Amino acid sequence: MSNLHPQLSQTAAQFIQREHRLLIDGRWVAPSAGKQFDVEDPGTGRLIARVAEGQAADIDLAVAAARRAFEAGDWARCKPADRTRLLLRLADLIEQHGDELAELEVMDNGKPLAFARRGITGTAEMVRYMAGWVTKLTGEAVPLSMPGTWHAYTVREPVGVVGQIIPWNFPLSMAIWKLAPALAAGCTVVLKPAEQTPLNALRLGELIMEAGFPAGVVNIVTGFGGDAGAALAAHPGVDKVAFTGSTATGKRIVQAALGNLKKVTLELGGKSPVFIFPDADLAAAIPGAANAIFFNSGQVCSAGSRLYVHRKVYDQVVADIAAYGDRLQLGHGMEAGNDLGPLISKVQMERVQRYIEAGREGGATVVSSQRPAIEGGYFVPPTVLADTDARLSVVREEIFGPVLCAMPFDDDDLASVAALANDTEYGLFAGIWTQDIGKAHKLAKRIRAGSVSVNAHMVNDPALPFGGFKQSGWGRERGREALELYSELKSVAINLGQD
Ligand code: NAI
Ligand code: MG
Repeated sequence: MSNLHPQLSQTAAQFIQREHRLLIDGRWVAPSAGKQFDVEDPGTGRLIARVAEGQAADIDLAVAAARRAFEAGDWARCKPADRTRLLLRLADLIEQHGDELAELEVMDNGKPLAFARRGITGTAEMVRYMAGWVTKLTGEAVPLSMPGTWHAYTVREPVGVVGQIIPWNFPLSMAIWKLAPALAAGCTVVLKPAEQTPLNALRLGELIMEAGFPAGVVNIVTGFGGDAGAALAAHPGVDKVAFTGSTATGKRIVQAALGNLKKVTLELGGKSPVFIFPDADLAAAIPGAANAIFFNSGQVCSAGSRLYVHRKVYDQVVADIAAYGDRLQLGHGMEAGNDLGPLISKVQMERVQRYIEAGREGGATVVSSQRPAIEGGYFVPPTVLADTDARLSVVREEIFGPVLCAMPFDDDDLASVAALANDTEYGLFAGIWTQDIGKAHKLAKRIRAGSVSVNAHMVNDPALPFGGFKQSGWGRERGREALELYSELKSVAINLGQD
């Protein structure tokens, strides 16, 4: 297809152009209503594929398949070590097909190929990390004080059939962050990728089948949020729904989950602060804070979108971060040398542009230099706004674009610094740059956020739990905590009779 980028490999091009169906019960099936929807390349705005539009009827079939696989069959009988083996095989397949998966990520999402490629490696590592837990998820013997003689213990069992709804900013890693712990815990899954980025989940579905996962363990239904997504969140046959995306949609998921009180985990939005103290190593802090907001064009839930710089170094730091942003090259993700790709869609581009305009109208100063618009794709250049304050929507709301709001702070009184950090409905992440490690610890303790990084920008290790305080979510991803949230804890007490 002429709309595909000329540098795309034949393997990736062939996959994109193939007919795309739904993965239900181990088979690729046509959607029941026979509908399809368009997939575009955000780097050009052109149509590159059409994929199956799954709807409520397809969700019903997928949930039924997941239920059958959970209750009976090879998966239900699968020994922990065999689950580990399947997951390790999947990790190997992800790595073996890493180049193709990275290209699909670029065509679907727009990000530069080098970043997509690095993400694939991280994805395989996440699968391996979770694979290691399968044989180590234990309960414990519990000493009872009740009269009589008892043997009591706890045991972790899989929560059951899980619905997983993911966003478009990191299509493959978001799928894996959801699937790997659920499968490690022994659940079965219905995954609904974001409508903007369905391709990599479909390719992943093929690799999952190739790895040998039994039919019905992983079902993939592409479709729209308000339709397939809503049906999955509300489905009475689903025991848990796990969601990553906007806080607004997260609240809808919670409401939909009320019907059968399914378990809910949510990884939602953020408006994460980054603090630069005057004693910080500025040579590291400046690129660190710049990447915290510009990486993936700011389409990162934990993006460091509020920058607080001590007044002593404020002017220099803000100018240097703006200059750093100005040097980043924008362009199509398949073209080498580009640092930033487009935003995901026209809708998202216009949303971000409206925020920048609202900031300007509210009195913010645009420090970044103006660039000529790039034709075709949905590009927004890195934008640093100074003279912002907490009343502005750009400071309060998640923008999900490469827009940084810079504000000075005056004293090192940690209570007031923490008050700045916590002046938000969100609580996902915070960054602290200082050489004073005591101050860093004390401030980290006061900040109401699920993750804090000191002298580093986002730390994405599979072992480190990730998730939100406040309206940034419920539960954690990564680490042992992620697996535990895909399990139920059962207490068993056995009356051993008279001594
Ligand atoms: P969204 O939260 O609406 O979409 C994320 C996922 O939820 C997609 O798979 C979508 O199909 C699904 N979905 C949408 N409505 C649903 C419903 N009623 N029931 C069940 N599933 C539903 O996010 P959207 O509209 O793509 O982006 C809007 C804003 O959300 C962004 O500008 C950004 O601020 C925020 N966002 C945050 C993300 C994060 O990781 N924190 C990721 C994506 C978006
Ligand atoms: Mg939406």
